[in-house]
Amino acid sequence: MMRRAKISVIGAGNIGGECARSIAMKELGDVVLVDVPNRDKPELHMPRGKALDLACCGPVENFDARITGTFEYADIADSDVVIVTAGVPRKPGQSRDDLVSINAGIVKSVAQNIKRYAPNAIVIVVSNPLDAMVYVMWKVTGFPAARVLGQAGALDVARYKAFLAMELGVSVEDIQGLLLGGHGDDMVPLPRLTSVNGIPIRDVLAEEKIRACVERAKVGGGEVVKLMGTSAWYAPSAGTIEMVEAIVRDKKRVIPCAAWCESEFGVRDANGGKGLFVGVPCVIGAKGVERIITFKMDETEARFMSESISHVKDLIGATVKLFPELA
Ligand code: LAC
Repeated sequence: MMRRAKISVIGAGNIGGECARSIAMKELGDVVLVDVPNRDKPELHMPRGKALDLACCGPVENFDARITGTFEYADIADSDVVIVTAGVPRKPGQSRDDLVSINAGIVKSVAQNIKRYAPNAIVIVVSNPLDAMVYVMWKVTGFPAARVLGQAGALDVARYKAFLAMELGVSVEDIQGLLLGGHGDDMVPLPRLTSVNGIPIRDVLAEEKIRACVERAKVGGGEVVKLMGTSAWYAPSAGTIEMVEAIVRDKKRVIPCAAWCESEFGVRDANGGKGLFVGVPCVIGAKGVERIITFKMDETEARFMSESISHVKDLIGATVKLFPELA
């Protein structure tokens, strides 16, 4: 008998809660929502509260999913997928990089628990600064790189497509596009590979308007932080769930994700001969990152990619300074 997928979500905040809701609504599997007790209010149990609230959507939305909330990592045992959203979100004026000192420690401890309790899971990291946190997860768990990936490109490319669709006044369904690089303001949207149902974007939209959409996508997270006083959650969750669905349904979707690269996209050249995790187009299926799809970048793209890789390299350097054992 086949069992339903078990999907654990670490961090029952805004992104975690929204991920749990989408998993249930799409019937991708059962959900275990994990968080730590609130030190100031020990009487509260946020993950159990959110799980209960969500479970009661089932009869209205007609989904079958067991949703549980817990403070115990042991409850993630046998998870097929673990989504890591734990950590502090950005406040106005902060960059994702400003979160490294707090979030690296949190992600490290989450990784130790995943290694212990869910050693066969595929892990999707969402915590920021994303590319460095994926590295921490991989280093601490020791999992094969195919089972450790970061959610960033799915979100960043969604923002890029949404802005283009708004500009063109066409359905978002008809925009195809791709993006490379780290999940920072130097991410690399690729107009050359962007189209409206195959019609090159440059044939239907003026260069300065494309540029404006590219620039808006790069700081799209920050635009939301300024408006809400905290990080976005709907689009980050949507990007994450796109990846989860590709895994549990073995869809072989091609999604830009932070994946371990060596020779791909000039990573080793830009990173002193070493590999690192950075956003590239990946084939995502039941085994996690099943393949990275490479292509020839033009000169400008290669330069932007190299700058983005250097930024990721610096972020990892800052992380290793805090936790030398992660070198
Ligand atoms: C964003 C955060 C989640 O880009 O990284 O909104």
